[in-house]
Amino acid sequence: MKYVAGLTCHLCGAAYPAEALWVCAECLGPLEVSYDYDAIRKVISRTLIQSRPNSLWRYLELLPVKEPRTGFNSGFTPLVRARRLAEELGIAELYIKDDSVNHPTFSYKDRVVSVAATKAVELGFGVFACASTGNLAGSVAAHAARLGLPCYVFIPNDLEPAKVLGAAIYGPHVVAVDGNYDDVNRLCTQIVDRYGWGFANINLRSYYAEGAKTTGFEIAEQLGWRFPDHIVSPVAGGTLLPRIFKGLREFREVGLVEGTLPKIHAAQPAGSAPVIRAIESGAEFPDPVKPATIAKSLAIGNPADGFQVVKVVKETGGTGAMVTDEEILDAITLLARTEGIFTEPAGGTTLAATRALIARGVIKPNESVVICITGNGYKTAEVMYDRVARPTQIGRGLADFEKAMGARLTGAAVGAR
Ligand SMILES: Cc1ncc(COP(=O)(O)O)c(C=O)c1O
Ligand SMILES: [Zn+2]
Repeated sequence: MKYVAGLTCHLCGAAYPAEALWVCAECLGPLEVSYDYDAIRKVISRTLIQSRPNSLWRYLELLPVKEPRTGFNSGFTPLVRARRLAEELGIAELYIKDDSVNHPTFSYKDRVVSVAATKAVELGFGVFACASTGNLAGSVAAHAARLGLPCYVFIPNDLEPAKVLGAAIYGPHVVAVDGNYDDVNRLCTQIVDRYGWGFANINLRSYYAEGAKTTGFEIAEQLGWRFPDHIVSPVAGGTLLPRIFKGLREFREVGLVEGTLPKIHAAQPAGSAPVIRAIESGAEFPDPVKPATIAKSLAIGNPADGFQVVKVVKETGGTGAMVTDEEILDAITLLARTEGIFTEPAGGTTLAATRALIARGVIKPNESVVICITGNGYKTAEVMYDRVARPTQIGRGLADFEKAMGARLTGAAVGAR
């Protein structure tokens, strides 16, 4: 907070104080936190960051809070060198940024919520809330529980049962709206106006978005203070992708990493791909769509930060890919079988899109790639039930086992699969 200069309109550049403001009074553009980078450059160093605990708060100078209140184990998730998957895809250097094991609620949302919840306390909100496609609801509810804040989470009424339970367990008011995410979001905007509650992704959005930069910070630090050639990010509301870019740009700005920024590519399911359609048609602002996809966490037809995604993708020389539900499920299986990581359809979308970008020659075999895996497969296990083998049922004896395995246990097959 010491280094926060204020809020700046992303569209017209108007300046505002760092309060609970999210849209520009002049042009209704989104407000971004701006920092005094000259001052940060003087105090920040790789050594200072590395001396701190393994959480997103190790980058405190570049985050908009006075003092962290929650999220002490959020972020700093593994960056996994994925050799078997790389071989399968025909590329040399591949990494998984694995937010499927983020703390405490197993998705990238624990980053944005750590910052938004801390800010909600700082700004004195009596209620912490969100409009969610599932993962955000769980994270907001968990962090609210830890802080003892009254909590409301609003979701569409068709979410996966484990996502609903994964929010309800923390004791918030879970409100399921008869409509899709875009309907939920519209209602929540009216609730902000009427009740003045702190919504993580509405009136606290400028701060919430800053938490997503830490994905970018961590990728650069964990690669040994360098940038990869490509990053592939899923897109729903459009928070994550542009903030990965902002994080990398800031690291360069304050002198922590040198070099060319990566190409950043967007991944969306074909049934909810307003941003990919805009990238492909050359439109600056995505046209809203009506979502229909198995990737419910990405089912946002009218993304709040869609135009920022389009802008960043263009600016970095990246592009996007949309993938079918079938391709998403195939990719979930591929990631599990090659790397031992079980992701939800959002992660399947990102991997399937990466596959498409490799096939199109956008990503070349000798270039380095980081894929952002942002959610955990156990929350959406039902989408995979038809895709995994049923257990082999046997009796209790060794003979039962041998009978069931049959030829697989004889001769040369012993010891192999
Ligand atoms: C698992 C997962 N990945 C990615 C996203 C997309 O995030 P954003 O809204 O930042 O584009 C979401 C959003 O709900 C999500 O739940
Ligand atoms: Zn403006």
